[in-house]
Amino acid sequence: MVTEIQRVGVIGAGQMGSGIAEVSARAGLDVVLTDVSDEAAEAGRSRIRKSLDRAVQNQKIGEADRDAAQERIRTTTSLNELHDRELVIEAIAENEEVKTKVFAELDQVIDDPEAILASNTSSIPIAKLAAATKRPDRVIGIHFFNPVPVLKLVELIPSLLTSEQTTQRAADFATGRLGKETVRAQDRAGFVVNALLVPYLLSAIRMVEGGFATAEDVDNGMVLGCAHPMGPLRLSDMVGLDTIKAVADSMYAEYKDPSYAAPPLLQRMVDAKLLGKKSGKGFYEYG
Ligand code: NAI
Repeated sequence: MVTEIQRVGVIGAGQMGSGIAEVSARAGLDVVLTDVSDEAAEAGRSRIRKSLDRAVQNQKIGEADRDAAQERIRTTTSLNELHDRELVIEAIAENEEVKTKVFAELDQVIDDPEAILASNTSSIPIAKLAAATKRPDRVIGIHFFNPVPVLKLVELIPSLLTSEQTTQRAADFATGRLGKETVRAQDRAGFVVNALLVPYLLSAIRMVEGGFATAEDVDNGMVLGCAHPMGPLRLSDMVGLDTIKAVADSMYAEYKDPSYAAPPLLQRMVDAKLLGKKSGKGFYEYG
């Protein structure tokens, strides 16, 4: 008998992992959040605290809900502490080798044979992560959007090996439990949203690189001219330039389409650790 998911694990306490932990805890689920170091786990905890405080200020939740959500999240640096989880969502850096290793380790750690191992990857084939485990039918992509507490969408990506039961349980979790809306996408680099969005972001970076216009003017063009809530350079900073570069590389490797090729400026900014909002500077500066 497959039970309703109550115990969730999240690997990676960065921008996305902390958001996924927060929405899960706000939905009443018990959450264990892991990262590689105490500092990274603590940074995730503080990100969650700030986000919950914002939700209180905006009258989305009360103070008691905030405190209860915080209490439902335990942070650790040990993957072993995920052993009793019914669903684990991996949200570490977009690196196939590292993710594959984590999936192989996780597969050894989890007790429940029905547990689902999910990835929040933006572009790495789910089938490759599944193949690193002995439970490929219970591996799926559950792809959230940034900021997780705000954006409604979750893409569900079953691989060729994922069972329908796993997809259904993941859909129930995302919609029934977290109150998100889902779209299903095939296991192709970029899925639906990034396959459309990333070439647009890369085009904007090429415009700045080629001196067509400043980052501010490109962004103002799209905000004021097309009613986008945010321009492409500010959005790139928010996503993280290292993540965009990694996603573009995966999509280019998959499709060999030049519109997915990362421009040299993006590569140089990543080399220089100008990663956007998370590092304090990208196309813009952040206090
Ligand atoms: P991030 O750089 O903010 O956070 C990554 C975290 O993973 C860091 O705290 C790092 O210490 C941790 N980490 C690295 N290796 C680890 C390991 N072996 N075990 C445990 N923790 C480890 O990255 P972000 O933006 O949260 O992205 C994470 C994933 O989510 C990537 O796969 C990315 O493609 C995907 N994603 C990102 C979105 C975005 O807008 N940034 C949107 C949707 C998906």
